[in-house]
Amino acid sequence: MSNLHIQVIHGPNLNMLGTREPGHYGNQTLTDIDEELITLGDTLGVRITSFQSNHEGEIVDKIQQLHVDGLIINPAAYTHTSIAIRDALLAIKVPFIEVHLSNIHRRETFRHQSMLVDVATGVIAGFGAHSYSLALRGLHHQLSQTTPNNI
Ligand code: DQA
Repeated sequence: MSNLHIQVIHGPNLNMLGTREPGHYGNQTLTDIDEELITLGDTLGVRITSFQSNHEGEIVDKIQQLHVDGLIINPAAYTHTSIAIRDALLAIKVPFIEVHLSNIHRRETFRHQSMLVDVATGVIAGFGAHSYSLALRGLHHQLSQTTPNNI
Protein backbone atom coordinates (compact mmCIF):
# COMPACT_ATOMS: atom_id res chain seq x y z
CA MET A 1 0.00 0.00 0.00
CA SER A 2 1.54 3.30 -1.06
CA ASN A 3 0.71 6.56 0.64
CA LEU A 4 1.15 8.86 -2.29
CA HIS A 5 -0.65 12.15 -2.69
CA ILE A 6 -1.67 13.21 -6.19
CA GLN A 7 -3.24 16.58 -6.95
CA VAL A 8 -5.66 17.01 -9.87
CA ILE A 9 -5.98 20.44 -11.50
CA HIS A 10 -8.76 21.24 -13.97
CA GLY A 11 -8.49 24.41 -16.05
CA PRO A 12 -11.03 26.83 -17.48
CA ASN A 13 -14.52 25.78 -18.56
CA LEU A 14 -14.11 22.25 -17.20
CA ASN A 15 -16.61 23.20 -14.46
CA MET A 16 -19.14 23.14 -17.34
CA LEU A 17 -18.58 19.45 -18.13
CA GLY A 18 -21.83 17.54 -18.45
CA THR A 19 -23.47 20.24 -20.58
CA ARG A 20 -20.46 21.69 -22.44
CA GLU A 21 -20.00 20.39 -26.02
CA PRO A 22 -20.80 16.76 -25.16
CA GLY A 23 -19.62 15.67 -28.64
CA HIS A 24 -16.09 16.61 -27.60
CA TYR A 25 -16.22 16.19 -23.84
CA GLY A 26 -18.92 13.60 -23.05
CA ASN A 27 -21.71 13.73 -20.49
CA GLN A 28 -19.87 13.24 -17.23
CA THR A 29 -19.63 16.18 -14.84
CA LEU A 30 -16.44 17.30 -13.14
CA THR A 31 -17.83 15.92 -9.88
CA ASP A 32 -18.31 12.51 -11.56
CA ILE A 33 -14.69 12.58 -12.75
CA ASP A 34 -13.32 13.59 -9.35
CA GLU A 35 -15.39 10.90 -7.59
CA GLU A 36 -14.08 8.25 -9.99
CA LEU A 37 -10.51 9.37 -9.33
CA ILE A 38 -11.01 9.28 -5.55
CA THR A 39 -12.48 5.76 -5.79
CA LEU A 40 -9.60 4.58 -7.99
CA GLY A 41 -7.18 6.35 -5.65
CA ASP A 42 -8.62 4.38 -2.70
CA THR A 43 -7.96 1.16 -4.60
CA LEU A 44 -4.39 2.19 -5.43
CA GLY A 45 -3.67 3.71 -2.03
CA VAL A 46 -3.35 7.23 -3.42
CA ARG A 47 -4.83 10.32 -1.78
CA ILE A 48 -6.50 12.49 -4.42
CA THR A 49 -7.24 16.19 -4.05
CA SER A 50 -8.86 18.26 -6.79
CA PHE A 51 -8.90 21.92 -7.80
CA GLN A 52 -10.63 23.75 -10.65
CA SER A 53 -10.18 27.34 -11.75
CA ASN A 54 -11.08 29.47 -14.73
CA HIS A 55 -8.19 31.83 -13.95
CA GLU A 56 -4.59 31.37 -15.07
CA GLY A 57 -3.09 33.18 -12.07
CA GLU A 58 -5.09 31.06 -9.61
CA ILE A 59 -3.75 27.92 -11.29
CA VAL A 60 -0.20 29.29 -11.05
CA ASP A 61 -0.76 30.12 -7.34
CA LYS A 62 -2.10 26.62 -6.70
CA ILE A 63 0.86 24.96 -8.45
CA GLN A 64 3.34 27.05 -6.42
CA GLN A 65 1.73 25.89 -3.16
CA LEU A 66 1.73 22.17 -3.93
CA HIS A 67 3.45 19.66 -1.66
CA VAL A 68 2.45 16.45 -3.41
CA ASP A 69 4.08 13.45 -5.05
CA GLY A 70 2.50 13.99 -8.46
CA LEU A 71 0.07 16.06 -10.45
CA ILE A 72 -2.58 15.34 -13.08
CA ILE A 73 -3.44 18.51 -14.97
CA ASN A 74 -5.92 19.33 -17.69
CA PRO A 75 -4.99 22.95 -18.37
CA ALA A 76 -7.84 23.15 -20.95
CA ALA A 77 -7.41 26.20 -23.23
CA TYR A 78 -4.33 27.32 -21.24
CA THR A 79 -2.56 24.23 -22.60
CA HIS A 80 -2.10 26.09 -25.84
CA THR A 81 -1.06 29.48 -24.50
CA SER A 82 0.28 29.47 -20.95
CA ILE A 83 3.99 29.95 -20.48
CA ALA A 84 3.11 30.99 -16.89
CA ILE A 85 1.68 27.53 -16.08
CA ARG A 86 4.66 25.86 -17.79
CA ASP A 87 7.10 27.95 -15.73
CA ALA A 88 5.23 27.18 -12.48
CA LEU A 89 5.40 23.45 -13.22
CA LEU A 90 9.12 23.69 -13.97
CA ALA A 91 9.65 25.60 -10.71
CA ILE A 92 8.09 22.95 -8.45
CA LYS A 93 9.69 19.90 -10.11
CA VAL A 94 6.69 17.63 -9.38
CA PRO A 95 6.11 14.94 -12.04
CA PHE A 96 2.89 15.57 -13.93
CA ILE A 97 0.65 14.08 -16.56
CA GLU A 98 -1.05 16.36 -19.09
CA VAL A 99 -4.60 15.15 -19.69
CA HIS A 100 -7.24 15.98 -22.28
CA LEU A 101 -10.69 14.53 -22.67
CA SER A 102 -10.61 15.05 -26.44
CA ASN A 103 -7.85 14.10 -28.85
CA ILE A 104 -6.47 17.61 -29.35
CA HIS A 105 -4.45 16.42 -32.36
CA ARG A 106 -7.63 15.59 -34.30
CA ARG A 107 -9.06 19.06 -33.75
CA GLU A 108 -8.25 22.63 -34.87
CA THR A 109 -4.54 23.27 -35.52
CA PHE A 110 -4.33 25.81 -32.67
CA ARG A 111 -5.05 22.91 -30.28
CA HIS A 112 -2.11 20.87 -31.59
CA GLN A 113 0.41 23.00 -29.71
CA SER A 114 0.96 22.38 -26.00
CA MET A 115 3.16 24.56 -23.82
CA LEU A 116 3.60 21.66 -21.40
CA VAL A 117 4.07 18.55 -23.51
CA ASP A 118 7.89 18.54 -23.58
CA VAL A 119 8.17 18.88 -19.80
CA ALA A 120 5.38 16.42 -18.88
CA THR A 121 6.07 12.90 -17.63
CA GLY A 122 3.32 11.74 -19.98
CA VAL A 123 0.31 12.89 -21.97
CA ILE A 124 -3.09 11.21 -22.31
CA ALA A 125 -5.75 12.55 -24.69
CA GLY A 126 -8.84 11.33 -26.46
CA PHE A 127 -10.44 8.89 -24.01
CA GLY A 128 -13.05 11.24 -22.57
CA ALA A 129 -13.39 11.10 -18.79
CA HIS A 130 -11.42 7.85 -18.86
CA SER A 131 -8.29 9.88 -19.78
CA TYR A 132 -8.08 10.90 -16.12
CA SER A 133 -8.15 7.38 -14.71
CA LEU A 134 -5.57 6.27 -17.28
CA ALA A 135 -3.40 9.18 -16.14
CA LEU A 136 -3.81 8.18 -12.48
CA ARG A 137 -2.84 4.58 -13.21
CA GLY A 138 0.16 5.72 -15.26
CA LEU A 139 1.39 8.23 -12.69
CA HIS A 140 0.85 5.81 -9.81
CA HIS A 141 2.90 3.19 -11.67
CA GLN A 142 5.67 5.72 -12.35
CA LEU A 143 5.78 7.00 -8.76
CA SER A 144 5.72 3.49 -7.28
CA GLN A 145 8.85 2.62 -9.22
CA THR A 146 10.88 5.54 -7.93
CA THR A 147 11.35 7.39 -4.68
CA PRO A 148 8.45 9.83 -4.26
CA ASN A 149 9.45 13.48 -4.90
CA ASN A 150 12.71 12.33 -6.43
CA ILE A 151 12.10 11.78 -10.14
C1 DQA B 1 -9.31 20.14 -23.49
C2 DQA B 1 -8.89 20.52 -24.91
C3 DQA B 1 -8.61 22.02 -25.03
O1 DQA B 1 -8.20 22.34 -26.34
C4 DQA B 1 -9.86 22.80 -24.68
O2 DQA B 1 -9.59 24.18 -24.71
C5 DQA B 1 -10.48 22.38 -23.40
C6 DQA B 1 -10.49 20.98 -23.01
C7 DQA B 1 -9.72 18.65 -23.37
O3 DQA B 1 -9.80 18.17 -22.25
O4 DQA B 1 -9.99 17.99 -24.39
O5 DQA B 1 -11.07 23.19 -22.68
O6 DQA B 1 -8.20 20.33 -22.62
